[in-house]
Amino acid sequence: MSGVTQKFSYDLRDKISKKINKLPMKYFDKKQAGDILSRITNDVDTISMNLNQSLTQLITSVATMIGVLIMMLSISKIMTLAALSIIPIVLIVMLIIVKKSQKHFITQQEYLGKINGHIEEIYGGHNIVKAFNGEEKAIMQFNDLNEILYTSGYKSQFLSGLMMPMMKFIGNIGYVVIVILGGFLVIKNKLEVGSIVSFTQYIKNFTQPISQMAQIANLIQALMAASERVFEFLEEVEEPQDSENALDNSKIVGNIKFDHVKFGYNEDKIIINDFNADIKAGTKIAIVGPTGAGKTTLVKLLMRFYDVNGGSIEIDGYNVKDYKRGDLRQAFGMVLQDTWLFSGSIEDNIKYGKQNATHEEVVSAAKAAHINHYIKTLPDGYKMKINEESSNISAGQKQLLTIARVILANPKILILDEATSSVDTRTEILIQKAMDNLMKGRTSFIIAHRLSTIKNADLILVLHDGDIVEQGTHQSLLKKEGFYAKLYNSQFQK
Ligand SMILES: Nc1ncnc2c1ncn2[C@@H]1O[C@H](COP(=O)(O)OP(=O)(O)OP(=O)(O)O)[C@@H](O)[C@H]1O
Ligand SMILES: [Mg+2]
Repeated sequence: MSGVTQKFSYDLRDKISKKINKLPMKYFDKKQAGDILSRITNDVDTISMNLNQSLTQLITSVATMIGVLIMMLSISKIMTLAALSIIPIVLIVMLIIVKKSQKHFITQQEYLGKINGHIEEIYGGHNIVKAFNGEEKAIMQFNDLNEILYTSGYKSQFLSGLMMPMMKFIGNIGYVVIVILGGFLVIKNKLEVGSIVSFTQYIKNFTQPISQMAQIANLIQALMAASERVFEFLEEVEEPQDSENALDNSKIVGNIKFDHVKFGYNEDKIIINDFNADIKAGTKIAIVGPTGAGKTTLVKLLMRFYDVNGGSIEIDGYNVKDYKRGDLRQAFGMVLQDTWLFSGSIEDNIKYGKQNATHEEVVSAAKAAHINHYIKTLPDGYKMKINEESSNISAGQKQLLTIARVILANPKILILDEATSSVDTRTEILIQKAMDNLMKGRTSFIIAHRLSTIKNADLILVLHDGDIVEQGTHQSLLKKEGFYAKLYNSQFQK
């Protein structure tokens, strides 16, 4: 049974881990990360522990009851019937207790998840919490959650703890019924005294497994509450399947067409109304616009993190939906606005997009990103471990590492979303030169607020509230003296 239950929880974790990668981005937008974590760890753990303890008990109990029942039937049918009369009482009592306590078991697992989420959030942002003197508030929030967890934990355990004594009590009533009925039958000469004696033994053996099952009721109930959460997660709607006859990504050249694209993170709040752009392979496109205009959103649509609500995005004449997601994303290399490094060495982080790269390739990518010099000053060099929150290097250095990562991955289409926003202007210019080399001959999208960095783009799309308000080259847009010119000039005015 240990083997069976461990295998079962192994499979559950396996299924969950696969599931995480199939869920649409939308799911993560609305769920607390800590709660999802709790489902994978706490809930699966509850299932495996409780299943381990209760399964064996359950099987022995049921087997004993069946065996005893057969023996009782072989002695006297009337007496057996009388003994079985306690079963409906048992069931009714069980039902009442389960009904009363199950909601507390559910609250317990739910708040375990909430506490997990809270801890993760506070721990992840502990420097901000400290900076704003938020410790007291964090502790208070924690106490509130902890209080509910405590109450539900104690209520659930108390109520299901009532189960055992109740069952024992009902079992004893059954015993009394048997003895009285048996005595009566003996007087009537319908039964021998010896039979009553053995029957009283059997009835004990019959009610014992019932109270044993009652004893593990709390385990089974917690098990049910935890499974509900795990299976709820496993049944979440997945990303639409990749199309059957997926296109070959090795031939992607990089012609991109946005055709009447309409999109909103929520159906009822459309952010991009009608976006059209025809981008020739090998050109350098800059997307500019005020904060919240929808620049990053466009990139996410291109990478198919979200699907458009209307219109289409085509790469080389084929809808992005006709490519396999993995193949499509492989064609892109991107540096996101929020950098992501994992806990591991600097070298492993740079190699993330090309696992089989040699050390020399890593170094030359780092050189192009102007980060090699810094890495060499570290005692461990490329072996230096970046910690979990990557707080042991500076924000600009993080960006440079993510740029090195893309340079190494050598993608067909390049997306840089505010890739150098935290880097000093001198380094930015140096990187730009390296980037210009990299971008030669490939389609690239550059999103930048510092407009001086995108002057040499082939086409500048000026975005405002999800729509293109102007487009053209730097010179032509300046001449127009419109929105772009205003944006540009405002950056140089004192
Ligand atoms: N996951 C999301 N769910 C709901 N709304 C979102 C989500 N992400 C972004 N938005 C909203 O969509 C709009 C466009 O966001 P987007 O990130 O594309 O802006 P941006 O142009 O990249 O801005 P910035 O210059 O600040 O990076 C914003 O109003 C934002 O609040
Ligand atoms: Mg953005």
